[in-house]
Amino acid sequence: MRLFSRIPMVRDLAILISKLFTSNSNLTKNKFSKKDWIILNKGYDLNLINKEMKNDGISSCLRLEKEAVKRIFDYIKNKPVFALRDVKKGFYLKDIKNMEKSMGKEILLAQYFNIEDCDVFNDIVNSKKLLKIVQNYIGKKVKKVGTILWWTFPSNVSEEERIKHAHFFHRDVDDYKFLKVFFYLTDVSLGDGTHVFVRKTHKPGWKEFFKEGFRVKRYTDSQINDMYPGQVFEIAGSSGDGFIENTLGFHKGNTPTKERRLVFEITYALNDYDVMNDIVDEKKLLVKEF
Ligand SMILES: [Fe+2]
Repeated sequence: MRLFSRIPMVRDLAILISKLFTSNSNLTKNKFSKKDWIILNKGYDLNLINKEMKNDGISSCLRLEKEAVKRIFDYIKNKPVFALRDVKKGFYLKDIKNMEKSMGKEILLAQYFNIEDCDVFNDIVNSKKLLKIVQNYIGKKVKKVGTILWWTFPSNVSEEERIKHAHFFHRDVDDYKFLKVFFYLTDVSLGDGTHVFVRKTHKPGWKEFFKEGFRVKRYTDSQINDMYPGQVFEIAGSSGDGFIENTLGFHKGNTPTKERRLVFEITYALNDYDVMNDIVDEKKLLVKEF
């Protein structure tokens, strides 16, 4: 159904209907975090953020307090991570070389599961400051529909794998109206594992629909540069830096070349289809020890 959000008029209509009939937000006042770890960058307020989101589809408006980043690293210290998001390919970060050996290839990315038992993530997701921004853009009934915490590693992997894991330009079609919040938890330099967004591509019209069709397609850098010259925005940042993005606009992750990258991502949307959370039955998780 969400693929219909590719059709401009259907998208607008669905947003209207969703706003009327979707269930209430799962982010209520009494769930606001006690500790707000979000800092708005200098000069930013709700108006400027909304303006940037509407015009460009992205706003590099926020960051996490250092203490929150520290707590996240403390939390994952003894937590297994899962290669290629596969519940049966768990390993401890210190064993990555052995895990790669046992898999017979380099690991492009690895994700943590069930992170929501950690207070700091709940605090971020339910941050009063963040929810104001998100509600302002999506509407009062906005829901948190998923979180992901994952590493991307410098690796030499097949094009097929890079396509599968969003390292080519694409649009997300997670809902009729949604946004994603990204936090870099490690320093990310230009050309080394950056997230890349194409400004002003978040409101595809009929022209784009006829060109792209229903299916989610993948595009190379040169195709995107030809179609949208001067609009490609590569986001470098320090540990803790965050940005908000409407990922209906073209985006991708760059494969790191030197440093591994840890990112925390939250998806907020009008509707929750229950397909984007990272909650897995612990009994299904398989962790290899070396
Ligand atoms: Fe994506």
